[in-house]
Amino acid sequence: MFRIKMCGKKKISKRAKVIAAFVIAGMLLLGYTFVEPYLLKVTEYEIYDSSIPEEFDGYKVLFVADIHHGPYFSYERVEKLRDRMNEMDADLILLGGDYVHRGPLYVPEFFSAISGLTAADGVMGVLGNHDHWDGEQATREGFESAGFTIVENSITAIERDRAIIDITGVGDLDMGTQDPMVNPEIYTIMVSHNPDYVAEIQGNKPDLMLAGHTHAGQVTFFGLWAPLIPSKYGNKFRYGEIDYNDINLIVTSGVGTITPPVRFFARPEIVRITLRSGSGD
Ligand SMILES: [Fe+2]
Repeated sequence: MFRIKMCGKKKISKRAKVIAAFVIAGMLLLGYTFVEPYLLKVTEYEIYDSSIPEEFDGYKVLFVADIHHGPYFSYERVEKLRDRMNEMDADLILLGGDYVHRGPLYVPEFFSAISGLTAADGVMGVLGNHDHWDGEQATREGFESAGFTIVENSITAIERDRAIIDITGVGDLDMGTQDPMVNPEIYTIMVSHNPDYVAEIQGNKPDLMLAGHTHAGQVTFFGLWAPLIPSKYGNKFRYGEIDYNDINLIVTSGVGTITPPVRFFARPEIVRITLRSGSGD
């Protein structure tokens, strides 16, 4: 009887240990989801294209989206982001929309904090859905006061020794207007807050499209798949470099978060693109 009781105790003890291990692992993973939003990384892309003029070989573009200044992304973090990007010495900085989260008061605050962001050829960008919800006019005024250019439905040419590339953009797919301006003779980078627009382009296509909006899913199954994506194409345009219909699409995971303020295998990032003239073969 005594030996049987001991065996029973051992079995229960082992099971309890396994359960405890799972509970601790679960709590660690849960805790990590609140840490990951602070693990900002720099993701590098090198784009080879024979339509990039030689004068732009090595040209550096920084792209950030979805900063979402608000209850989960403080004024000081926006300032730190600005300083870090300024130190990266870019030729051009592009902003992909969704600058705030939850409240029109955050809009002027955001532009106060980001003011001073600078690059050789300037800072340009578009609005996202949150910017429409929290203050479209204030966001447009913020761009102006910071000296940034809104490139929605327009072309801004950048010149290097008489060679040109074009920067263009479109309004948010749900809240703005899309009247794309693309000259097929000139290498063109287009900014669209929502990556779904890549599947809706009519007429001339840009060579490179930059988008955000998805936050890479924010919470993913180890970076492979996300249950919640604000896209009618599911995970198709969730994250990264995607070739679609002869357009090179780069979707960023963004910088901030919306509610809940967690990330899992969808680290926040600054995208740095180096243009290379030639096919790369
Ligand atoms: Fe968005």
